[in-house]
Amino acid sequence: MSGFKIDGCSALITGASAGIGREFARQLAGRAGSLVLVARRGERLEQLRDELIKRDPNLHVHIRATDLSRDDQRDELCDWLAREKIHVDFLINNAGLGDLGPFAAADPDRIDQMLRVNIIALTALTRELLPAMIGRKQGAILNVSSSAGFLPIAGFAVYAATKAYVTSFSEAIRAELYGTGVKVSTLCPGPVHTEFGDVANRPGRQPERGPEVVYVSVERVVRDAIAGIEGNRALVIPGFMMKLGMLFVRLTPMSILRLASRISETISRSGKTFPSVIQDNGREKGHR
Ligand SMILES: NC(=O)c1ccc[n+]([C@@H]2O[C@H](COP(=O)([O-])OP(=O)(O)OC[C@H]3O[C@@H](n4cnc5c(N)ncnc54)[C@H](OP(=O)(O)O)[C@@H]3O)[C@@H](O)[C@H]2O)c1
Repeated sequence: MSGFKIDGCSALITGASAGIGREFARQLAGRAGSLVLVARRGERLEQLRDELIKRDPNLHVHIRATDLSRDDQRDELCDWLAREKIHVDFLINNAGLGDLGPFAAADPDRIDQMLRVNIIALTALTRELLPAMIGRKQGAILNVSSSAGFLPIAGFAVYAATKAYVTSFSEAIRAELYGTGVKVSTLCPGPVHTEFGDVANRPGRQPERGPEVVYVSVERVVRDAIAGIEGNRALVIPGFMMKLGMLFVRLTPMSILRLASRISETISRSGKTFPSVIQDNGREKGHR
């Protein structure tokens, strides 16, 4: 089955002010016809717009400073798209945030924000833009999930659960949309060097990083994701090590993963390390 044609498309990218979202904008410039860039930090979006237009003067770039955790601002974004008659045929639901540490000590506002951005905004924007794509028999939705969504992660409980939702939701609508002309792909990166880790880290906590071998560059993540939607791939896991690791995780029964987690916790409490995909005690080992 053929994939989505990126060239000349009109893409909306959430979380375009940093990291993976900004890189999507950079790699789509020169191919897309227009871009709508959404995030809270408007000045960053302005800088990015100037950079993109310098590289590709024919590109139309719209920017919208929007807090996607707020229903009123999200609704305003949708109203603006309708008012300006901006047809989005490629929705990249990328905005997201994490929170590292034990759930019992998590800031309730932070939990709320994560649920609102990672789940509610992604679902609402998809619901808003999908009917027109179906009507035009053409479109694509790329939902940025995470390899963290493949398994429960102690110390990253809410974030991993939000990403499990994203992956499940995306797979389900992909099945619903079969034959409509609308493609859906899920991007599940492992660790990527962006601002994500700093944002996810709680105040006063020492930042922890996983082994460099599992990190994939932001350029590679986005290149693979674009190739994935062009190839109509259901799931994109950038990087050989992460592909292999996630294959193992997905084939391993939950009872074994629980056991590994328990062993990991015991060893970690005794001061040694154990390479496990499930985290102990709220400590991260490079799995986002
Ligand atoms: N980096 C990783 O290791 C990694 C791994 C797997 C999956 N991911 C996923 O990849 C996506 C992008 O993350 P990243 O690594 O690029 O992180 P990042 O550098 O922290 O960028 C996050 C983006 O989300 C936007 N955002 C956060 N809260 C928002 C809100 N309330 N309203 C609007 N925009 C908001 C931020 O913009 P403003 O702050 O300007 O609003 C920023 O542009 C996320 O969904 C993340 O879960 C990341």
